[in-house]
Amino acid sequence: MRNRILYILFILFVVTISESLYAQRIVMLDSSHPISIRGLSIADNNTAWLSGSNGTVARSADGGNNWEWMQVKGFEQTDFRDIEAFDKNTAVIMGIGEPAVILKTHDGGAHWQTVFEDRRKGMFLDAMEFWNERSGIVIGDPLEGKIFVARTFDGGDSWQTLPGNRLPAAEKGEAMFAASGTNIRSISLSEAAFVTGGSVSRFFHRDKKTVLPLLQGKETTGANSLAVYRNKKRKPAQYMVVAGGDFSNDSLSQGNCAVSSDGGVTWIVPEMPPRGYKSCVEYITAKRLIACGTSGADISEDGGMHWQQISRLSFHVCQKAKKGDLVLLAGKDGKIAKLDWD
Ligand SMILES: *[C@@H]1O[C@H](CO)[C@@H](O)[C@H](O)[C@H]1NC(C)=O
Ligand SMILES: *[C@@H]1O[C@H](CO)[C@@H](O)[C@H](O)[C@H]1NC(C)=O
Ligand SMILES: *[C@@H]1O[C@H](CO)[C@@H](O)[C@H](O)[C@H]1NC(C)=O
Repeated sequence: MRNRILYILFILFVVTISESLYAQRIVMLDSSHPISIRGLSIADNNTAWLSGSNGTVARSADGGNNWEWMQVKGFEQTDFRDIEAFDKNTAVIMGIGEPAVILKTHDGGAHWQTVFEDRRKGMFLDAMEFWNERSGIVIGDPLEGKIFVARTFDGGDSWQTLPGNRLPAAEKGEAMFAASGTNIRSISLSEAAFVTGGSVSRFFHRDKKTVLPLLQGKETTGANSLAVYRNKKRKPAQYMVVAGGDFSNDSLSQGNCAVSSDGGVTWIVPEMPPRGYKSCVEYITAKRLIACGTSGADISEDGGMHWQQISRLSFHVCQKAKKGDLVLLAGKDGKIAKLDWD
């Protein structure tokens, strides 16, 4: 009798686990264009844009099932590591360096205007973030010890570099990773925060810099991505998760994730961290998050304290629709996938 009860409990346990795994499933959508994809922006349930190496951009109008691929003329060698999509016609793309460029289209990618260009040696853009369809920010690796910051107030049509005395100071060997366009995020109606890596890995907000409990000390270590949960749009966000690790050893699961519940003042390490190095982390709901990297994709159901691997496939970037529920992942060899969740 007792054995039978245990047996039934065991079966229930197995069914529950496989159901929870099944509830969040990665479904492959496309791998037809073998480029490295790191830029992904989803406007709504249907409209998604991505960007990557070899000057490549793609646009979907049906939630990622079909993609219209394009190569930006004159930028065939450029690695577009970040993209911001406002709707099916309007998007901004960021090319990392030498020259660092930002381009914008108003006609679905038929024409692109160069809206920012910096030919300085060592100039390297890492990520853009927009508060809305007008106000945005871009950050780049430090030049002469100062992190590069430029702002736009017209949806990316023009950009103004912050004056030198307002640029945040970096430590020697501290920089940002252009891994998924997510190391800078808006945390309130008008403020952004960003995370760094390298010799030291820190969280920057206003003039406060907080050292993160992440791997650091090597060129390949530190924070790659910041996710912010903004429930009350008018108040600064409290809940945040940082992901990263060491991209030269993507199986290391120490120092690859940290969680804050007080707006980034203090950070704790998850009880069960995600598996291996992660280049991107994103909130799906208040408690559910997805993180991905060359090591695979992982889900947390409790705000980042416990993680479970749901796929071993390598992805660089994962994003949720700004308006809607669509969650897509993309990465090397042109892999594009969808997260089925409920
Ligand atoms: C991307 O560009 C590189 C160098 O220009 C080239 O060798 C490679 O074949 C291109 N890849 C694709 C998928 O077009
Ligand atoms: C990665 O880290 C693991 C665990 O510390 C270690 O055993 C392995 O040798 C490392 N691999 C590389 C390529 O450094
Ligand atoms: C997006 O699709 C989901 C169903 O998949 C639906 O519940 C939701 O309302 C849609 N959101 C928008 C903004 O259309």
